[in-house]
Amino acid sequence: MKPGLLVVGELPAWDLEALSERFDLHLYYAAEDKAGLLARHRETIRAISTKGEIGADAALMDALPKVEIIACYGVGYDAIDVGAATARGIRVTNTPDVLTEEVADMAIGLLLAAARRIPAGDAWVRGGSWAARGPMPLTTRVWGKRIGIVGLGRIGRAIARRAEAFRMPVSYSGRERKAEVPYDWYPTPAALAPHVEVMMVSAAGGASTRGLVDRAAIAALRPGAIFCNVSRGTVVDEAALLEALRTGRIAAAGLDVFLNEPEIDPDFARLENVVLQPHAASATVETRRDMGRLMRENLEAQIDGHPLPTPVA
Ligand code: 8YV
Repeated sequence: MKPGLLVVGELPAWDLEALSERFDLHLYYAAEDKAGLLARHRETIRAISTKGEIGADAALMDALPKVEIIACYGVGYDAIDVGAATARGIRVTNTPDVLTEEVADMAIGLLLAAARRIPAGDAWVRGGSWAARGPMPLTTRVWGKRIGIVGLGRIGRAIARRAEAFRMPVSYSGRERKAEVPYDWYPTPAALAPHVEVMMVSAAGGASTRGLVDRAAIAALRPGAIFCNVSRGTVVDEAALLEALRTGRIAAAGLDVFLNEPEIDPDFARLENVVLQPHAASATVETRRDMGRLMRENLEAQIDGHPLPTPVA
C-alpha cells in the first residue's frame, strides 16, 4: 500500500501526477468535508504537502498522528508551526534556491513597472489616449537610484546583484551585518529608509518579522521613494503604506504580497501609483516545476529513509 499524502494547497497537475506514483493522494483543498477526510485517513497519511502562506498547524498534526514530514512548496514556511512539528518528531522541508532568481526577477520587474508606470503606459496605448491626448505624463527613473533591501538573504542578494547592473548603490537592513558583502548595513528598516530612494522588502515572513517595516520606517522614507515587497504582507504595516501612497508622500509601490491574500485590502486597487501582482514571483512554469520536484524529492527521501535534501527542521 502506498503511504498517504495530504495535499493541503493546490498543486499543478504535473506534480499531482508525479506524486501519485509513490503516494496515495488526498486533496484537502478540494474536499468539502475536510474533517471527514482527516478522520477517514488518520492511520494512513504519513506526509503533508503544503505552502508557506497556508502552512500546517498543531491541530492538523494532531488529526494525523502518523505524519512524518511536512513538505513546503515554497522557500517561506512561515505558516507552518515548526515548533509543533518538532515536538511531534515531524520533519519539515522547504524549496530554497530553486526560486531565488525568479523572485528577484519579479522584484526588479515590479520596481520598473511601478517607477516607469508600465501598466499605465500599456493602458494609455490600448485605450487610445496616445492618439487622442498625446504622450502620457513623465515617470521617474530606476537606474542609479539608491536601493535599500530589507532582508539580505538569498533572494535579497539576487536582487542586489541585479540592482548593481542598474548602477544602483545598494544598502540593506537585517539583524546583523554581513561581512561578505560590500553594502552599507542598517539595523532596522527605519534606520535604512532615510538613506534610500527605493525600499525593497525581501525578508522572510513569520513571527520574528511581523510588522518589521513599521509606521516609523514608512514615515522615514524620503518623499518620492518607491516601495516594493516580494516577501510577505505580514512584514509591512499596510495601513501606514497605504496612507503614504494615498497622500503621494511616496511615489509608487510594486507589490506581490499582502495581508489576507487573496482578499486583499481593496484600497490597493484604488491607487494609481501601485502595481499589483497575485503573489506570483515564483510563478513560472520552469520554477514551479523545480519547486515541485524538490518538494517531491524531500517527501520520497523521508518515506525511503534517506537524508532529506532541504530540511528546515
Ligand atoms: C509560494 C512563496 O510558496 O516560496 C515562497 O515562500 O511565497 C511562493 O513561492 C508559492 O506561491 C506557492 O504558493
